[in-house]
Amino acid sequence: MAELFKRTHMCGVLSMDNVGEEVILNGWVSKQRSLGGLIFADLRDKSGIVQIAFDDTTEKSVFDKAETLRSEFVIGIKGTVKERASKNPNIPTGDIEVAATDLVIYSAADTPPIYIKDDDNVDDNLRLKYRYLDLRKLKMQENLRFRHKICKLARDYFDENGFTEIETPILIKSTPEGARDYLVPSRVNQGHFYALPQSPQLFKQLLMVSGCDRYMQIAKCFRDEDLRADRQPEFTQIDLEMSFVDQDDVINLQEGFLKRVFKELMGIDIQTPFPRIPYDEAMERYGSDKPDTRFGFELKSLNDVVSGTEFKVFADALAGGGDVRGICIDNASDKFSRKDIDKLTDLTKHYGAKGVVWIRIEENEIKSSVNKFFSQIELAEIANVFDAKTNDLILIVADKAKVVFDSLGFLRRHIAGILGLLDDKQFNLLWVTDFPMFEKDDETGELKAMHHPFTHPKEEDIPMLDTAPEKVKADAYDIVLNGVELGGGSIRIHERDLQAKMFKALKLTDEECQEKFGFLLEAFKYGAPPHGGLAYGLDRLVMLLTGEHSIREVMAFPKNQNAQCMVCEAPGIVEEEQLEELGLCTK
Ligand code: AMO
Repeated sequence: MAELFKRTHMCGVLSMDNVGEEVILNGWVSKQRSLGGLIFADLRDKSGIVQIAFDDTTEKSVFDKAETLRSEFVIGIKGTVKERASKNPNIPTGDIEVAATDLVIYSAADTPPIYIKDDDNVDDNLRLKYRYLDLRKLKMQENLRFRHKICKLARDYFDENGFTEIETPILIKSTPEGARDYLVPSRVNQGHFYALPQSPQLFKQLLMVSGCDRYMQIAKCFRDEDLRADRQPEFTQIDLEMSFVDQDDVINLQEGFLKRVFKELMGIDIQTPFPRIPYDEAMERYGSDKPDTRFGFELKSLNDVVSGTEFKVFADALAGGGDVRGICIDNASDKFSRKDIDKLTDLTKHYGAKGVVWIRIEENEIKSSVNKFFSQIELAEIANVFDAKTNDLILIVADKAKVVFDSLGFLRRHIAGILGLLDDKQFNLLWVTDFPMFEKDDETGELKAMHHPFTHPKEEDIPMLDTAPEKVKADAYDIVLNGVELGGGSIRIHERDLQAKMFKALKLTDEECQEKFGFLLEAFKYGAPPHGGLAYGLDRLVMLLTGEHSIREVMAFPKNQNAQCMVCEAPGIVEEEQLEELGLCTK
């Protein structure tokens, strides 16, 4: 093996302070330029890039070796730090270079299939296949480092607050988070399957019954659901549970955590307490249970002003118990052509909207896609609801409440994006509270728990569990950052009679409860403390704080759009013998 040059410094830390020092560096050649009697090599390690210079003062054998350097060769150099003749303001080490006196080549490299450049726009699958090269990019290294720092801070902060990090099993029975499970066949118990945890939910509750009092874990979770920019089949939670607490205790402690994350890792003072917005208000004002409050365009109900209208779309929506609502995009009507509005309308179809009505406030006239059905006075009345001014654009959706909220919630944020109002440097944190206990299952129409069936109903709503369960609100809360659900949690039910009521409302039979959660119910017989908790999506937190737009950018080895690991090519085909061993096929 070539001699190992034991490094004295990382590349990215060298500055004018080091001028005159003898240094030894290791790393990858990012670029080599041969200019006759002068060779420059940019040397990269995870901390940054520094320029290495070889010239007529360099020993000939070293100079000759330097001529052979190519991108991604792994080398070691010895040399002296010098002030540069022509400085490079684009890199932190741009004031200096290292005049090399010795060079070792540890390994040569083929031309890499992707450029190791932060802003390279290469195909995502290629990036994921050669992830180990992709991760050499300094931005990716910084993201991984930042992720590490959040984990470290979480461990420190929660440790200081009396939490113990405890691992929970990965091969378990199905958890009640509501997504599809990943199943693992058991060889020893043929015909039986483990599920990978969608979260450590039931185990962390058991730990409260165990008297662990405050639990935390940086936990891997698995959910077989469709991928999105902020959703991966395998992701990580900062998972927490506490005994003898109410909602305010959980929230206060989390605000302390986030305040520290922002202060120590971002140098930003965030104001606490964060705003708390009840779920109903979040839907009414923003059309979303994860409102982005960095911009306006709040939803307004038009039910009153358009009641009695003959315009069939509005009249039908109201008659069917639905809603007519709109948003007003101020001073931007001229930025959206008819074609643009048609495109927006197409996009809302995805949320079930059959159309979008537009109203433009012009200098002397109000124009609208429904001019035929509404007089100028009636249109002005609608405009008044929004306090609309010249050059405002009003967009209206009429349908079932869910369609209206989803469509306008989407339009609001989408348009803010088009108008450049989504400032990555602004961080609006808020809690959404008072979630409904239940929601209707889209397919069966039956009630299902909105969070999970161990979520505590609001004390004052408990009597309605039997009579009007759809009105019951829960002690559940989500933490939202810039329109992204960062985390969620709840106070749990620890009372056996209440739990039984809850299962009844969910129409779960005793057998079903026993089958699904028997072990937790059994544990609750032996003394369960009041408890509650929360889990953050770690990947999402890192994504937002690093200004990335996909959690893939902050995970070392994420899955692609088809839930495949492009590095190891999972999922793969297995040997027939393995299937036989598991009892999954017979020859
Ligand atoms: P929940 O299901 O809300 O709650 O999940 C908590 C947080 O985990 C993140 N998250 C995801 N991140 C990436 N990819 C995914 N597929 C994904 N799914 C969820 C989100 C979310 O807010 N056991 C409860 C927590 C509790 O009640 O204490 C739970 O898992 O940021």
